Amino acid sequence: MSLLKDPGLYKEGIKKMDWALNYMPVVKRILDDYKKSKPLAGMRVVTAMRVDAKMGNFARALKAAGALVYVASSSPQAVEDDIAAGLYNEGINVFAQSNATQEMYKKQLMKAVECNPNVIVDTNGDLMTLLHNECKANSKEIIGGCEETTTGIRRAQARARAGKLDYPIIASSNAKCQALFDDRYGTGQSVWSSIMSVSNLMLAGKNVVVAGYGWCGRGVALRAMGLGANVIVCEVDPVKALEASMDGCTVMVMDRAARLGDVFVTVTGCKDVIKEEHFEMMKDGALLTNAGHFDVEINVCELDKLSVDKSVIGDKLETYVMKDGKKLNLVGEGRLVNLVVGEGGAAEALDLGFAIQAKCAVYIAQNYEKLKKEVYTIPKEIDYDVARIKLNSRNIKIDELTDSQAAYLKSWEE
Ligand SMILES: NC(=O)c1ccc[n+]([C@@H]2O[C@H](COP(=O)([O-])OP(=O)(O)OC[C@H]3O[C@@H](n4cnc5c(N)ncnc54)[C@H](O)[C@@H]3O)[C@@H](O)[C@H]2O)c1
Repeated sequence: MSLLKDPGLYKEGIKKMDWALNYMPVVKRILDDYKKSKPLAGMRVVTAMRVDAKMGNFARALKAAGALVYVASSSPQAVEDDIAAGLYNEGINVFAQSNATQEMYKKQLMKAVECNPNVIVDTNGDLMTLLHNECKANSKEIIGGCEETTTGIRRAQARARAGKLDYPIIASSNAKCQALFDDRYGTGQSVWSSIMSVSNLMLAGKNVVVAGYGWCGRGVALRAMGLGANVIVCEVDPVKALEASMDGCTVMVMDRAARLGDVFVTVTGCKDVIKEEHFEMMKDGALLTNAGHFDVEINVCELDKLSVDKSVIGDKLETYVMKDGKKLNLVGEGRLVNLVVGEGGAAEALDLGFAIQAKCAVYIAQNYEKLKKEVYTIPKEIDYDVARIKLNSRNIKIDELTDSQAAYLKSWEE
């Protein structure tokens, strides 16, 4: 059983996945290894992630490892139908269609978990929430899950603290290889390529306000600087704010930044970061975008209420006209800009994140008897292993400690 838009689109989907695989040497290597060792033989693995070419190669790697793979998406907007068709053609169960209604999206997730998963690979805790509530009956055979977003990890940790987490979760987004490269460089680049493709604006000389200087925010700010923008950062964490300041950004509160910004990017994981009073202060023509997981960072309801008119430019850009005639532009309804507009992170960056997730799924399969119903940080060896494969693929050699150096670093006598 599968739910997808058009199975006939498979050829294009396969071509796109093959193209992306050329730039995913770590996933390719893992896929080849798992084809022989079959570490997930017979396991039912459900994924809820953006269905694109990179994710498609991850699903292929799980299948190569012997798993029965069930693919759902992480949001109704995050599905490429040709990739869904390509995966279906390769024997993967797919429950994902583009532009699904919220109701349909939920139905797809529920259909995917009807297989009674052993392992889940989640985004934002969507599968976790289902498997602890409406679909609890489908969670009897689950041995663990991995979660790729900060938002999802926070929720799993809150459940674990309350004693309400039914299975162990590995926080894959805590992996250095994911945060440093996928979140920082992947998100950093793709947020700007998406904003520029939808707006056709130039960044040089503009005031760019980045709310949140976490892993993603650093990448977004860094790339904006590289494109010649004056970067303003809004933060609530004093250490991150200091880091942003020393990195060359101007740090200030949103109440001030709102008056100065030409382009805004929220990437905090928090709600109401830009709200009514900020819209009122903004300059005519300001462009508002969100790169955080939920569409709650920019309060679109308040923007709607404040405006007297709205027009749509293309299918991803809306202009809100305020009472005084000022125009504010919102990209992708305030949803995750690089997923709604763009193609998601670059294959080279997501290569690392997906390699981490594949290894996490195998780690769960091999260690679940030792794991408690808690949230675990990713084992260091997985991070190192993935980084080594990536370095090898780039022909980069690094030094190794000699025995005497290793002893020196561990000792206090010498
Ligand atoms: N767009 C993408 O491709 C993509 C990729 C990965 C993660 N994400 C999402 O982006 C968000 C951020 O992820 P991250 O990994 O950078 O998280 P993070 O926790 O490393 O960083 C978030 C930062 O936002 C700050 N913050 C929180 N509330 C704030 C507020 N009200 N005002 C200003 N700053 C505030 C925090 O202090 C923190 O420094 C999450 O929702 C995550 O799921 C998006």
